[in-house]
Amino acid sequence: MLKLIKLTTAFATSLIILLSSTAIAADGAGTYTAKGCPACHGADAKTPVSPAYPKLAGQSKEYLSQQMKDIKSGARNNGQAVIMKAIMASVSEDDIKVLSEYLEGLK
Ligand code: HEC
Repeated sequence: MLKLIKLTTAFATSLIILLSSTAIAADGAGTYTAKGCPACHGADAKTPVSPAYPKLAGQSKEYLSQQMKDIKSGARNNGQAVIMKAIMASVSEDDIKVLSEYLEGLK
């Protein structure tokens, strides 16, 4: 009986993890759109409006979140990063996490 309860708990836990990761994925797409990212990087994050703007889809989340933090803080101000800096004022640390996970998951 105890074994059954343990199994059920383990099952319930994995279900919750599964469900919450789906929620994060949906949230990522919503955040990407709500923050206006598609205007420059494209709705699919790989057809930017200018060839000079980077494709984001499928890059590692570690890289993406670091770039966003650096553009936000001004540490990255080479190239055309200044174009994106203003929008980063409305993007929180939590948004950055959600966005990088979402973008990494895109093909
Ligand atoms: C006004 C246009 C514009 C908007 C809006 C914009 N970006 Fe960017 N983004 C750029 C440009 C331009 C660069 C490249 C800067 C450079 O030349 O170094 C960039 C770079 C990046 C990078 C670094 C990619 C790499 O390969 O180094 C990431 C990540 C990124 N943007 C994510 C986002 C996200 C997420 C949003 C929405 C919150 C967003 N951007 C909104 C223009 C924009």
